[in-house]
This record gives sequence, structure tokens and C-alpha cells, in this order.
Amino acid sequence: MNAITETNLKSAFGGESMAHMRYIQWGNAAKKEGFPNVSNLFKAIAYAEQVHASNHFSELKNQVGEAAVTAGAGFGLTTTSENLQGAIEGEDYEVEQMYPAFMAVAELQGEKGSMRSFKYAIEAEKTHSALFTVAKQAVDNGQDFTYDTVHVCDVCGYTLTDDVPDNCPICRVKKEMFTVFNTEK
Ligand code: FE2
Ligand code: FE2
Ligand code: FE2
Repeated sequence: MNAITETNLKSAFGGESMAHMRYIQWGNAAKKEGFPNVSNLFKAIAYAEQVHASNHFSELKNQVGEAAVTAGAGFGLTTTSENLQGAIEGEDYEVEQMYPAFMAVAELQGEKGSMRSFKYAIEAEKTHSALFTVAKQAVDNGQDFTYDTVHVCDVCGYTLTDDVPDNCPICRVKKEMFTVFNTEK
């Protein structure tokens, strides 16, 4: 594997792993603050980030050894509104800055598997940013996120609140390959 794509995959693996854990913390906090559906949304998207981390890890295959991880991303626990703002900024950074740059390098280097892994992530992060934005608007009006059911594609991390289409719009797998997250009552 080409060295720069390898470095980018490791960096993305680190970033996605941290996003996974961060959303679990913010999900727990949202529940305590009285926003159970926001909590469920955080848990669902935490799972989507796990899918991305797993995809990147798989692409690294037999690249054994140490990797230094310096991840610049939101840290800390404040109000759910501010946590959602941090989540939106993180997702937008991935959509606008990180993954387009990683994609361009992978394309240049002909790293097809990495291109797919980055492509799945960038398309899924767009859905995450949009969902967090809707959730933040609700919270800022003193309300919970409207939806108590969230679906996540097991293959690419695409996330939606509506009915799942027959095939995932990003990776084309069948609807049976989605995991459903329901708010705990
Ligand atoms: Fe992700
Ligand atoms: Fe995301
Ligand atoms: Fe998918």
C-alpha cells in the first residue's frame, strides 16, 4: 500500500474511533438532560462511526506496527445543544476537508479499496451532519428530536429516520443490512 494513503487510513481510523466513543458519551449526557431521542440518535451514529472505523481498519489489512495518532476533534462534555454543535462541526470537517483530501490522494495512488472506504464515510457523514442539525434545532427550542427510530447501514454507515429503501443509496446493499435503533422507553 502507498505510504500516504496508509497514513490517511490510520488517521481516519483514529478519528472515527474517537467519534464513536465521543457520541456514546454525548448520548449518555443527552439522556440525563431529558432528550431520549437525541440520545438514541447519538447511539445510532456512534454505531455508524464504528462501521467507518472497521472499514478503514480492514483496508489496512496486514499493515502491522505502531501508528502515532494525533486527532484534532471536539473534546469535552457541555450541554446537549453545544455537544450537537460540536458533532455538526466534526461531521462537516470530515465532509468538506478531511475525506475529500484523503479521496484525492487515494485516487492519485490507485488505492481502490481505500477510495471505497473513504467514499462510504464521506456520504454517510453528510447524513449525520443533517440529522444532528435537525436535532440541534429541536433542542434549542426546548424539544426532543422528533424521531425515536434511526436506521444505520451496516456496510457504509448511511443513517436515516425514514423507512429504509430496498437498497442502500450509498453502497447498494439490501435493506436487511440495516441496524435499527429505538429509543429506550
Ligand atoms: Fe464516520
Ligand atoms: Fe459521522
Ligand atoms: Fe450502505
